[in-house]
Amino acid sequence: MTQHKQGPEEGLPQHIAIIMDGNGRWATARGLSRSEGHKAGSRAVRTIVTRCRELGVTHLTLYAFSQENWGRPKTEIGFLFDLLVSFLRDELPAMERENIRLSVFGDISALPLTSRKALEHAMSRTANNSALHLNLALNYSGRADIVQACRKLAAADTKPEDITEQTISDNLWTAGHPDPDLVIRTSGEIRLSNFLLYQSAYSEFYFTDIQWPDFGSEELDAALATFRSRSRRFGRTEEQKGS
Ligand code: IPE
Ligand code: IPE
Ligand code: MG
Repeated sequence: MTQHKQGPEEGLPQHIAIIMDGNGRWATARGLSRSEGHKAGSRAVRTIVTRCRELGVTHLTLYAFSQENWGRPKTEIGFLFDLLVSFLRDELPAMERENIRLSVFGDISALPLTSRKALEHAMSRTANNSALHLNLALNYSGRADIVQACRKLAAADTKPEDITEQTISDNLWTAGHPDPDLVIRTSGEIRLSNFLLYQSAYSEFYFTDIQWPDFGSEELDAALATFRSRSRRFGRTEEQKGS
């Protein structure tokens, strides 16, 4: 998180969301433990955050832990949350220096106390930053997000006619953030695994066989080149687009 250019490049997505997958397989292929894979994955996070900041991407959302991931062995879960605490400790100075604002999408009340405290600390220290919104999807589930938004609307006695796509968006964990323009998934899996279901209605998708620990600046640039080559029509014809 050091150098950065002034102003975004042409055709740059405003919001990139990444399903960071393949840490375990990356490690197994090298005779390492899954924990080593997650450690290498956290180094990839640093690289990609830095690159996004350089390029002028304003929103980056990283899928770090799904609600379904609670089904993993307790030791792996413990390792992941310890890793989160050290990541935040190591990266907070750079986030402050680089004007990066940290947020969480998901219910953090269920997280281990130390990681919750570290997150709350980092979020409050970066709350006034604005160059890059770095969002961690933690204890996240796209369906659970829609359910909690509906519950909030019901609890506020919202009239049926006042429920709109906008009011639903405004009550999701992602409230106030633009929908992702580009969703990337590493490791060769072609699925969403419950990520940003409502928000990705018109996202472009980019799937790569590269495992997350090997996803670096060049791989991100390749994804961005593909994104620029896509024609986003939003239901209209190619001819209408320019008008
Ligand atoms: C992604 O890597 C990290 C998390 C889901 C937390 P995985 O741990 O899913 O790696 P694979 O899919 O087993 O290779
Ligand atoms: C998705 O990866 C969740 C995260 C990257 C945090 P998983 O590895 O958990 O997804 P599945 O189980 O292969 O669908
Ligand atoms: Mg996986």
